[in-house]
Amino acid sequence: MTAKTGNEWAVADAKNRFSELITKALKEGPQRVVRRGEAVIVTAEGETPARPPAPGPTGRVEYVEHQPQPAGARRVLLIIGGGIAAYKSLELIRLLSKAGVKSRVILTEAAQHFVTPLTAGALSEDKVYSALFDLTDEAEMGHIELSRSADLVVVAPATADLMAKAANGLAGDLASTTLLATDKKVLMAPAMNVRMWHHAATQRNLARLRADGVAFVGPDEGAMACGEFGVGRMAEPTAIRDAILRLLSDGPLKGRRVLVTAGPTVEPIDPVRFVSNRSSGKQGFAIAEALADLGAEVTLVSGPVAIAPPARATFKAVETAREMLAACEAALPADAAVCVAAVADWRPRAALKDKIKKEKGAAAPSIDLEENPDILATLSKAGARRPMLVVGFAAETSNVEANAKAKIARKGCDWIVANDVSGDVMGGAENEVALITRDGVARWPRMAKEEVARKLAAEIAAALA
Ligand code: C5P
Repeated sequence: MTAKTGNEWAVADAKNRFSELITKALKEGPQRVVRRGEAVIVTAEGETPARPPAPGPTGRVEYVEHQPQPAGARRVLLIIGGGIAAYKSLELIRLLSKAGVKSRVILTEAAQHFVTPLTAGALSEDKVYSALFDLTDEAEMGHIELSRSADLVVVAPATADLMAKAANGLAGDLASTTLLATDKKVLMAPAMNVRMWHHAATQRNLARLRADGVAFVGPDEGAMACGEFGVGRMAEPTAIRDAILRLLSDGPLKGRRVLVTAGPTVEPIDPVRFVSNRSSGKQGFAIAEALADLGAEVTLVSGPVAIAPPARATFKAVETAREMLAACEAALPADAAVCVAAVADWRPRAALKDKIKKEKGAAAPSIDLEENPDILATLSKAGARRPMLVVGFAAETSNVEANAKAKIARKGCDWIVANDVSGDVMGGAENEVALITRDGVARWPRMAKEEVARKLAAEIAAALA
């Protein structure tokens, strides 16, 4: 279709003229786009439209101005996958736009069964992309350019199929090609049936994608469109928006280095046996993630756990307390250290090279233990290399706060996060803690470990500000 006149397009046609607009902007500088009734008028910024706006059918002047984005406006490339949750992504576009974030949308073929390019285009006020080979026109943005045209790539809903394609580096359509070609951070909001989510293949793909640096929000637990109940519902649009805003923000901890220890340590008795504890690493990993969300450069040193490390932390896997201490010292200097690890207090004095044999009739062997280095105390007394803020955890089963206060003095740290581990805290999803600083005690209600992590990260950011 051609323009009605030089710089005037039909509203219905305007969205197809995106590349023409870009070409004009490249040649003539910033362009101003104004709607007048059924016409769209394009002028160079600063010029007034040739004619004043005419009254629309209601008699009122219809004059919808599409403000040019302020310099540095943030953009996401939103890949909408084919699932019933796709309709929620339309709400997401609206929420992002309210937050000053522009969306450019790619609809997979399957997604078009759930939402139309027209709706997505109207809400995003941009051309909607769907087919890889539409992009061969020179005037169009190529898929490489498209994949890098945003500050963040968001996949919502991320179907089992899209996750599988991305985890395996497939590039057979526009969405998967974009995910393979992008140099930007990727956030996925998975949505699928509960059995599909728990299937070993999906969980394998999830771990692979996390290891590749993909961030995730959700899925939530609840009733599903298919009539089943469980984990697999896409996170609510507000939660996805918040995750996007966190990833887009530079954050108050930008430029700060933070060291986090997590998980148990494993102290060998012989090649097959060891002394360890029940720490799952969940709380420490969530703290590392929350600190990274605030922009910190995080080094996470962890003993063996069954969960994947957060994408944006530098991860050091260790086994013994002595290895953990060495990895922590190698990560200095740091502005803050958060020691969440459940370090084994003692280790077998000699880790035997050969497996201890069970001899018939012989007495059970005794294990001679010796004390492990105290990583928290060592970091707290590191002299010139001491992080500005050192935070310890106190897992207690009684007199929680009194013991925590004594621990601050004994270890030389600044804060203690005290928790009562007499219940199901170790390995559980929730935690109830008190933050003990030199100024006093703040008791936090029971909440998800992620929430504890976010609150603690915010306190750390405030302390380092
Ligand atoms: O003395 P306790 O083990 O209760 O202290 C717990 C705190 O000290 C936690 O922050 C834990 O990470 C840290 N710790 C350590 N090295 C040890 C023992 C504990 O860093 N050997």
